[in-house]
Amino acid sequence: MCGIVGYVGSNKTVDVLMGGLRRLEYRGYDSAGIAIIDSSGVLNTAKKAGKLSALTAELKAHPINDGQTGIGHTRWATHGAPTDGNAHPHLGDNDKLALIHNGIIENFAPLRDELLAEGFTFESETDTEVAAVLLGREYQRVGDLAEAFRSIVARLDGAFTLLAVHQDQPGVVVGARRNSPLVIGLGDGENFLGSDVAAFVEYTRRAVAIGQDQIVTITADAVTVTDFDGHPVETEEFDIAWDASASEKGGWSSFMAKEVSEQPDAVANTLRGRITDGQVVVPELTEFGDDVLAGIRRIVIVACGTAAYAGQTAKYAIEKWAQVPVDVELSHEFRYRDPVLTADTLVISISQSGETMDTLMAVKYAMALGARAISICNTQGATIPRESDAVIYTHAGPEVAVASTKAFVAQITALYLFALHLARVRGSLTEAEQAAQVAELQAIPEKIQAVLGVEDEVRQLARWMSDTRAVLFLGRHVGFPIALEGALKLKELAYIHAEGFAAGELKHGPIALIEPGQPVFVVVPSPRGSAHLHPKVVSNIQEIRARGARIIAIAEVGDAAVLPFAETVIHIPLAAPLFEPLLAVVPLQMFAMELAIAKGLDVDQPRNLAKSVTVE
Ligand code: G6P
Repeated sequence: MCGIVGYVGSNKTVDVLMGGLRRLEYRGYDSAGIAIIDSSGVLNTAKKAGKLSALTAELKAHPINDGQTGIGHTRWATHGAPTDGNAHPHLGDNDKLALIHNGIIENFAPLRDELLAEGFTFESETDTEVAAVLLGREYQRVGDLAEAFRSIVARLDGAFTLLAVHQDQPGVVVGARRNSPLVIGLGDGENFLGSDVAAFVEYTRRAVAIGQDQIVTITADAVTVTDFDGHPVETEEFDIAWDASASEKGGWSSFMAKEVSEQPDAVANTLRGRITDGQVVVPELTEFGDDVLAGIRRIVIVACGTAAYAGQTAKYAIEKWAQVPVDVELSHEFRYRDPVLTADTLVISISQSGETMDTLMAVKYAMALGARAISICNTQGATIPRESDAVIYTHAGPEVAVASTKAFVAQITALYLFALHLARVRGSLTEAEQAAQVAELQAIPEKIQAVLGVEDEVRQLARWMSDTRAVLFLGRHVGFPIALEGALKLKELAYIHAEGFAAGELKHGPIALIEPGQPVFVVVPSPRGSAHLHPKVVSNIQEIRARGARIIAIAEVGDAAVLPFAETVIHIPLAAPLFEPLLAVVPLQMFAMELAIAKGLDVDQPRNLAKSVTVE
């Protein structure tokens, strides 16, 4: 949801900015733009609607002068259509100031009216230009960017990260942050700003997180962070755990294909360092305090999109192993009702990016009501973990494709580790029971690797189904959230109408959708592990088959009962029931990806979506 990069230093600024935007493009790809103060002290901008490649072509056709100070932006449109004119940067102070923005300025309309009344004019329909003009007006008064920012931020409602340069202050980039992400990269004789560390990891692995309501000034040699009142604040440096190559495609046809294939590692890396002698000890939770965990009476999981389905999947394991009731809520629904939370409620947020605004607001709200908060997050230094009492990082590595895959399996893994840690602290599993679950978890990477072998089969299926207009997904127990995730992947990637249902719910309505030829994916529970559920799902298959549905079953190797009724059976290795989702989801991800490819779509950057949704 808008990627932001800022740079001061002696590297080629155009290259630093464009490289940063390339790595941030997953955040939005409606338009892109850069502004550079050139070596003669003149501010130059270039911006273009469309993906970053359009700006690259524009810069090739009309190069701009390079310099040592610049900002760059990739946009996910909120206010104003994705046109050249609405692309960032926007200008102020007689075109001497350039500003970029991530977030939404909610009170932009009255501010715009105020500025119009004073005779200012606007070139775009964006809320951002209002901030640029306001900042420019203030700059004229105070003659310093950081000072000008300090006086305007109090007038802005909403969420924002704003970066600005002014040609009268070359060698300086100033940023202001409220609720949208911003991280500093520390270089040698150069410094960086970015929406996340991907923006500058090619140049430095030293980063500093910036807190809420803070203003940062970077020059080539110095970094200054203050609060909105101008008081210096303490900052925390951290090392970026991965290098630039981890966020490169590295020979794969798409990030999506690469990330699907990285799932065995995503699980293995998330397990690493958290299992000792067959028992789960998550070091980040020991700091949280065993007595506190033992006293938890209720868990509320808040998340959006794929992360919410990871939560829904893990609910079964947490309740079974730790015997604590779990509610899973969409963050935006949770935040705006009146949830009952007490000090013995634990709120677990799940977010790959750690920046999803709906989830951040839900966490803040829950904490304000007295609940404790743990974050499951894949991005170091992100906002949600910083706001929470504790964080369990997933170690899936950078996920670039907009639709989430490897982060999903890593999130379930982290939640299972949490559940087993909690069960140990609460004594709800014996050591032997705990060790058995741990062994299952440890076997998952190899089993996912085996599932990846169904690629050709899934590709053929996708090609065969490339004209399909609607697909249904059924699952039961932990297979239900996997059905929902399978449907979401297909919507996101292949723009096909898809719905996931609990198989037991079928007869209460959805079965009316079944007509001859309707493709239905069914996640079939294991006949061994779920002996009570398996026959019921097989009956569901028969019911829809009788009405002409074409069944594609995801079933355990050796499950003979589904064979007579399914058009296609995709086999997954044997696993205990609670672990099947980590395997069953993989062919569904692959199917959505292959169908999108068969339709000639961009699987990494699906239309209208952004990876990190930093507006509510
Ligand atoms: C967006 C993405 C989804 C993602 C969701 C939650 O909608 O397109 O793929 O699942 O946000 O993102 P988070 O970073 O909080 O996991």
